[in-house]
Amino acid sequence: MINTAKVQVGDNVVVFGLGGIGLNVIQGARLAGAGKIIGVDLNPDREEWGRKFGMTDFLNSKGLRREETVAAIVALTDGGADYTFDATGNTEVMRTALEACHRGWGTSIIIGVAEAGKEISTRPFQLVTGRNWRGTAFGGAKGRTDVPKIVDMYMTGKIEIDPMITHVMGLEEINTAFDLMHAGKSIRSVVVF
Ligand SMILES: NC(=O)c1ccc[n+]([C@@H]2O[C@H](COP(=O)([O-])OP(=O)(O)OC[C@H]3O[C@@H](n4cnc5c(N)ncnc54)[C@H](O)[C@@H]3O)[C@@H](O)[C@H]2O)c1
Repeated sequence: MINTAKVQVGDNVVVFGLGGIGLNVIQGARLAGAGKIIGVDLNPDREEWGRKFGMTDFLNSKGLRREETVAAIVALTDGGADYTFDATGNTEVMRTALEACHRGWGTSIIIGVAEAGKEISTRPFQLVTGRNWRGTAFGGAKGRTDVPKIVDMYMTGKIEIDPMITHVMGLEEINTAFDLMHAGKSIRSVVVF
């Protein structure tokens, strides 16, 4: 958000996938002073989660075709988003995220890790009309110099991590942690041992 995308005050941002990663992208957008922060997810329970971290609008994309999701975002952002982020790892969502960007300057950033062997595609028209397609690992943070700054942001309350820990359990319950994750009922479970 701040390192890779360099979001500016007032930019419209769309985040696909509101899990632990997407929610942190949302709070990064809030910190950067983004204008609209639109969250997209198939799980309606994620709307409440997104709003807690600064999401201004929610789109439930369940049952929507790519063109319909893109049209909804274009309407909400008056022409397309300045920045979109894929935090799902789904290659079809990655395409939707690119195509929901504003022509001329919109940038889409892939955070999600796709299944082995999957490929991304779009029509070259999408890029020749000025959209950018990028990716990021660990938000473009430099470990030695940026991690202490991130810890300071947590210690001073600029970023919230604690609310994302939805479950704490012992090692003997680790399978429950996986079940909760697969059912979309947890954001992050901490296993104590
Ligand atoms: N690039 C990096 O540095 C980096 C670091 C950590 C994690 N990741 C990747 O980020 C992705 C997200 O991680 P997470 O822990 O937040 O995962 P998660 O499973 O907790 O959350 C994924 C969210 O995406 C939603 N979703 C799934 N399919 C969707 C679709 N088709 N359309 C809309 N929403 C959809 C789910 O409902 C869920 O809310 C994963 O692919 C993970 O591997 C990347």
